[in-house]
Amino acid sequence: MCGIVGYVGQRAAQSVLVDGLRTLEYRGYDSAGLAIVDGDQMQVAKAQGKLSRLTALLDETPLPGNVGIGHTRWATHGVPSDANAHPHSDPTGDFVVVHNGIIENYLALKEHFVELGHDFGSDTDTEVLAYVIAEEYDGDLKNAVRKAMARATGAYALVAMTAKEPGRIVAARMISPLIVGLGSDETFLASDIPAVLPYTNNILVVEDGEIVDVTADGANIETLDGTPVERDPFVVDWDPGRAEKNGYDHFMLKEIYEQPDVIEQTIGGRISSDGSVELDGVDWGEDFAVNLEKIWITACGTAYHAGLVGRELFERILRVPVEIAYAHELRYRDPLITGTTLTLAISQSGETADTLAAARLAQENGSRLLALTNVVGSTLSRDADDVLYTRAGPEIAVASTKAYVAMLVGQALLAIKLGAERGMLNDSEVVEMKAELQELPAKAAAVLESTAEVAEIAKTICDVDDLYFIGRGLDFAVAMEGSLKLKEISYLHSEAMPAGELKHGTLALVTEGTPVIVVLTQQHIYDKTISGLQEVKARGARVIALAYEDDLEVAKYADRVIRIPRTADMFAPVLAAVPLQLLAYHVALELGHDIDQPRNLAKSVTVE
Ligand code: M6R
Repeated sequence: MCGIVGYVGQRAAQSVLVDGLRTLEYRGYDSAGLAIVDGDQMQVAKAQGKLSRLTALLDETPLPGNVGIGHTRWATHGVPSDANAHPHSDPTGDFVVVHNGIIENYLALKEHFVELGHDFGSDTDTEVLAYVIAEEYDGDLKNAVRKAMARATGAYALVAMTAKEPGRIVAARMISPLIVGLGSDETFLASDIPAVLPYTNNILVVEDGEIVDVTADGANIETLDGTPVERDPFVVDWDPGRAEKNGYDHFMLKEIYEQPDVIEQTIGGRISSDGSVELDGVDWGEDFAVNLEKIWITACGTAYHAGLVGRELFERILRVPVEIAYAHELRYRDPLITGTTLTLAISQSGETADTLAAARLAQENGSRLLALTNVVGSTLSRDADDVLYTRAGPEIAVASTKAYVAMLVGQALLAIKLGAERGMLNDSEVVEMKAELQELPAKAAAVLESTAEVAEIAKTICDVDDLYFIGRGLDFAVAMEGSLKLKEISYLHSEAMPAGELKHGTLALVTEGTPVIVVLTQQHIYDKTISGLQEVKARGARVIALAYEDDLEVAKYADRVIRIPRTADMFAPVLAAVPLQLLAYHVALELGHDIDQPRNLAKSVTVE
């Protein structure tokens, strides 16, 4: 999705903006641009394609000045092209805007200017906002933006600048995320925190329906009706280095290798030696768990797959019904959310539009809302009654890896906390689970040390048309995620399904040599999964099993076996996910794909 950066200060704006846009590349984009004010001159440079095309232009004609805005665009209205790239200007060129999100009434707004005889240079829904702001301008950019926002409808973050008031940037937020980074004698704006981290970790969040006036001295926030907003900044303790590749060829690989640390940090200090679970940010009172009648889980993509694991953990440990729904489905249902319910909304970014909408719907229906997210201060975290932060650090690769594993660990902690509070787990059981959890970082590290088999197997599946992932229970949940990872970055067609489902139709597609990846960690259904394995083997499938290192049985049936250390079955997904992530990585590497920014995908899906 689109990315925004803005800068006012003493540094050369061009380099701050380009570096910021580089940090936002992971969001996925198809064009980039920036505008810088120098004296009373507005200068704009933009180009379709990767940031290197824009920097080539800037190498030829650098843009001097200390105030500017930049943007990476992910096309929604109009094809990727130079003309559709942001920033967009009014006819005089004095006003520029960049924008994330969608202006729903842009055609109606355009009509007015077409009637006045203007021709638009782009097909975007953004360009018209520069026209509206110029038309509303009476010497004060903030007033003009405020009036423009009153005329626009949709979900967006808008940033505007004019050569008539150098040294000032005005931005407004209606749903799409926007943050301010406060430095000394310099101020930054961005859609995502990592873009400002090299300069400051003092962050101020702009909320929906607010407008922010940014100068080198700081930022003033008001609501759209002009009420001043007093909000303290918060400090983000992410290390900017964690948003760098640090010697790895790809962010995805680096993030896969960070997982032992991420597991450790997500558990860190949350279970004490006497078995009590203290989750900072989660405070639902003593009787909540006892009275809990149902848990809803909602999320999209990888976060949804993490929720599939959570569903089973909560059901097993708490003995309460758990329903999981894709957020984009739930938001348009009329769900029966009644009684004492907890809705767990899972989102790495905390900004996924569908997840936010589904979470709000659950809250409106009287559910308590718990956010499981990786981004401190994200919209989801602010909407929720309780927040459990995963501590994965910034995840840059579009294909989520470490955030997924952190979500699994976060849900394990929640299940233990709720289980203890509900009287389903006694202290010694909690201590036992804690001990198992604490062994996971070392075991994940062991998985990462023995990756040769995975890389070998990757070579053997690069050229297939289709492949299948099967498993039962938690193994099925992991299979879903393994399949998605592979699709995202290798572009191979793969499908995941419960092992018992194959014979109800899909088995017709399994022929001589079809690769079938079988996840086999759940002991209570081991024999059942082996039966599924034999069914595909009998049709000539090439079976790749993922099993515990001490499982001697599996080698009798599988062509290749990927091994993971044994752990409590309920935590096996944490370890089983890792080789499947690596498998996807190595296949994509073999095929020469853009691993960190796969085609058509964006890191954070902030539009519907
Ligand atoms: O930020 P979120 O966790 O809400 O994102 C949800 C999905 O868009 C995300 O998990 C997506 O499926 C990833 N590309 C998966 O790798």
